Formats: sequence, structure tokens, C-alpha cells
Amino acid sequence: MIIYGTILLRSILGLIILSIIRRNEHDIVNVYDTFSNLMRIATGGKLLNFGYWTKDITNPLQAQIQLTKLFAIYGSFEKAQTLLDVGSGFSIPALHWIHSYSNLKIYCLNISLKQLKSANSDMDRIHHSKDVNVDLSSSGNLGHRIFHINSTSTSIPIRNESVDRIAAFESAQHFKPIAQFIHESKRILMNSGQLIMALPVITNKSNLMPFSKSYNLGILAVTWASEHYSVNMLESLLLKDDFELSNIEYIGGKIYGPLADFYIQNRDRLRSEITKEYPKFLEIILYKSMVKMKLESDRNFIDYVLIKAIKR
Ligand SMILES: C[S@@+](CC[C@H](N)C(=O)[O-])C[C@H]1O[C@@H](n2cnc3c(N)ncnc32)[C@H](O)[C@@H]1O
Repeated sequence: MIIYGTILLRSILGLIILSIIRRNEHDIVNVYDTFSNLMRIATGGKLLNFGYWTKDITNPLQAQIQLTKLFAIYGSFEKAQTLLDVGSGFSIPALHWIHSYSNLKIYCLNISLKQLKSANSDMDRIHHSKDVNVDLSSSGNLGHRIFHINSTSTSIPIRNESVDRIAAFESAQHFKPIAQFIHESKRILMNSGQLIMALPVITNKSNLMPFSKSYNLGILAVTWASEHYSVNMLESLLLKDDFELSNIEYIGGKIYGPLADFYIQNRDRLRSEITKEYPKFLEIILYKSMVKMKLESDRNFIDYVLIKAIKR
């Protein structure tokens, strides 16, 4: 038992360190495979985003569903036919969008085979189960409207000019090199098609500090184990590929602080749930990372943006 505990402790620590320092695709898949259950305990669902917190929202799952809806409104999904969702998680966003927009067919692309398999089995039992946190009883015909693809954002097995929306819903912060994903998006989108992204970013203010390096994020790198892109950098890459940029929305104020407050206020309950499955030190790291995240958001060093880029 002690040996097992030591191995677990070492492998989780190793994973955290690699996800902060090295962050190759293999590390990212491992992080999600190891910690997505932690997210499920903390949020009560299978969505993997930070959530959008307004006054009426009382828990993380509601906030995540709200961000999923906001993303679709921002991306004018009501006008789209074919959507490619790159970094699709457990395909829960796709299920919500399919339910709300009868016009849509969605290709869910994910580097994690484990998440795709789980999404497939959820779809199989969807009409008998409520555990995917959405009432889909009227969505029908899912097998002909949602398709799963196991691939990476930088090499997408979809033909040229074949979709009218590409979504990177809180996933582009993992794509490396992001320029390659932007080229791929340009290739796959039809003319006037839109690339819609929601992602955490570092701000210009953080450039004044030695903060943009991941090791300077300190404990925050745990809740943000990804690349740290700035809006300026994303804008210049998009313009280089001749995308037209539409209004960028800065919504970090409704993301980080409220999520951290929720965690802090509910810490006792969450800690006892988390430590049933994970070592105590992991919960302590998570808590400290939440506090740091709120601090850096309040100091305006990090933000969260919605970006719309239109193919010309
Ligand atoms: C923060 S989660 C968001 C998932 C989903 N959009 C949601 O809100 O539930 C990021 C997702 O991106 C996927 N991902 C990370 N790197 C990727 C890559 N290079 N190519 C494709 N998917 C990737 C992860 O497996 C994960 O599903």
C-alpha cells in the first residue's frame, strides 16, 4: 500500500512537472487522462472549461454550460452548417450545440482517444441517461450529426474549404505551434467561414513582469498547464494568414475570480471528495493555484478572450 502510494505520488508529481515545463502533446493527453476526473469531482459534470459566472450562476456546471452557450452565440452558430470542434473534450459542448441548433453537423476532433471513446459511449446511451448534464431527448439522430476524429490540431484530416465554422473552445492554449493550427484552419474553412476561439491569455501588462515564462507562473501553472499566448501574438498570426478580425471580447472578470471564490467557499466539501481519489497534496496545490489565479486576474496579468477570425 505504501509502495503504491509512493509510486502514485511520484507519477502525479512527475506529470505536474512535465506539464509545466515540457508540455508536449503526450504530456497534455496524460494530464487530461489523469486529472479530468478531478474536474468532474470539482464541477459535477464532464465539461472541461472554466465557466462564465454571472450573478444568477450558483455552481461550476451552470457556469460551464453558460460559457458553452455564450461561445455559440458569439460564433453565430445559428447560421452555420458544418462545425469542426478542435479540442472537443468529452463532446459535451457538441451535444449542447446540436440540441440548440438543428442546422448543425459537428466534427469533434480530439488528441485524446480516451475522451473520444467516453464521448462515444455517452452518445450510445444518451436517450436513457441524464449523466451528461444535458437534456438531449429531442436531439435525435446523433450518429448522423456528431462525428469523432482522433487527431491533432496541427494536422487535421479534413479536406480543403469544407466547413463554415471552426471552434477551439478553451483548447487553443494547448496547440503547438499555434501558427500551424491557424494555417490548417485557413485551409479547411470555406470563404467567409469563421474561426472562433475561447482561451486564457496573458495580458500586455504581464510582459512588464518576467511572468510570461511558465516557470514564473508558479503554482498557477497547475490550473493553466498550457502555452501562454497573448492577444497581440494571436492577432498577428491571424492577420499574417489574411484572416479578418472581428470584435475580441475580454471576459476574464467573469471567469477566474468567481471560480476561485466558489472553490474557496466550498473547499471543505470538495477536499473531502477529491482526497477520496487523489493524494492530499494535490488538493493543496489546486487550492493554492486557484488563489493565485484570482490574484493574477485581479492584477490584470491574465485574461480570457473570445476571438472571431473570418476567412477572406
Ligand atoms: C480545456 S479542454 C476543453 C474541452 C471542451 N472544449 C470543453 O469545454 O469541455 C481542452 C481539450 O483540448 C484537447 N487538446 C489538447 N491539445 C490538443 C491538440 N493538440 N489537438 C487536439 N485536441 C487537443 C484536450 O484533449 C481537451 O479535450
